[in-house]
Amino acid sequence: ATGLLGDTLGRPLRDLRISVTDRCNFRCNYCMPKSIFDKDYQYLPHSELLSFEEITRIARQFVAHGVQKIRLTGGEPLLRKHLEILIEQLSSLRTAEGKPLDITLTTNGSLLRKKAAALKAAGLNRVTVSLDGLDDAVFRAMNDVDFPVADVLDGIAAAQEAGLGSIKVNMVVKRGTNEDQILPMARHFKGTGVTLRFIEYMDVGATNGWRMDEVLPSAEVVQRIHAELPLVQLDPSAPGETAERWGYADGSGEIGVISSVTQAFCRDCNRARLSTEGKLYLCLFASQGHDLRTLVRGQASDEQLASAVAHIWHQRDDRYSELRASLPPDASSGGRRVEMSYIGG
Ligand code: GTP
Ligand code: 5AD
Ligand code: SF4
Ligand code: SF4
Repeated sequence: ATGLLGDTLGRPLRDLRISVTDRCNFRCNYCMPKSIFDKDYQYLPHSELLSFEEITRIARQFVAHGVQKIRLTGGEPLLRKHLEILIEQLSSLRTAEGKPLDITLTTNGSLLRKKAAALKAAGLNRVTVSLDGLDDAVFRAMNDVDFPVADVLDGIAAAQEAGLGSIKVNMVVKRGTNEDQILPMARHFKGTGVTLRFIEYMDVGATNGWRMDEVLPSAEVVQRIHAELPLVQLDPSAPGETAERWGYADGSGEIGVISSVTQAFCRDCNRARLSTEGKLYLCLFASQGHDLRTLVRGQASDEQLASAVAHIWHQRDDRYSELRASLPPDASSGGRRVEMSYIGG
């Protein structure tokens, strides 16, 4: 399985995002609202989850088809027991050119103090930590489990101490909820080596009650920061990147804006998503995945698995964010959209 694999829009497969649990200890209102994700919510039973061996076997076929970066997500990935063992397995994979993968993790930071050193030792290259504000009241209300800002900041510090270089912080911006945190967050992380990225609130999933008027366009985020801390636009560092990069004019680092709503970036989208139970999703806004677990648990050989992956990617035509404007509200490619906590960020 070599050669260039392109989908129907000519997009290569570069980035594999693997969700390792559909559970989370936070209840961010834009992702896992408490009213839906309550004590009766049915999470996946353990037997349905891919084992680490199954994940690594699947990931190996993706790497053979061009994947260079693996991101572990959830839910909250650090809730999955012994995650460092999976990282160890994945870090032994090599690209067709014989290079190690870029292995990274998206986390809410709550367990980083406890886990950072073991993750680094297992081969994790970097982490992205979600944090929606510096004001404790604002953040506690957004995560909806009363989790304090200080503990996330301590998790970030732990990651830095463990040598998990080039740390990113993701802030979802909701107009009227945490927009007053944009400047405090920018000031706080400026000059620290941490790259802060602002994400437009997205209509992902079917439960967060998304409304366009709660989206603060990234152009406005950039304007507000630029007014106090001058910015200059930077070139993309990789094709198909989600974030547009802006550098501080005084050379003290950079920020990013992820504008899935106001400036779709589907054209170069090279991301595949593997759900906790082994379904392959071709778009964050998909309603249906392609079952790989049945192949893995059946008699399929590695060659058969690899060719199934190639076949699925070859037929891919997803570009939801580009089409959003012309679709009726709540549309997806037919059916109920999957939740972000299930498919991963
Ligand atoms: P790095 O550049 O390696 O740090 O990865 P990344 O840019 O993919 O960053 P990250 O995984 O932190 O993604 C940031 C956020 O962007 C995610 O949490 C999502 O909210 C959003 N995002 C990522 N990929 C997509 C995508 O394919 N489509 C859309 N609409 N949003 C995405
Ligand atoms: N819109 C934008 N970003 C979201 N995230 C989760 N739900 C949404 C949404 N509706 C972000 C989280 C985290 C990453 C996993 O995805 O804040 O940074
Ligand atoms: Fe958990 Fe992240 Fe979703 Fe918040 S955004 S509920 S931390 S998975
Ligand atoms: Fe990729 Fe779908 Fe996001 Fe577009 S909306 S960038 S196709 S995941």
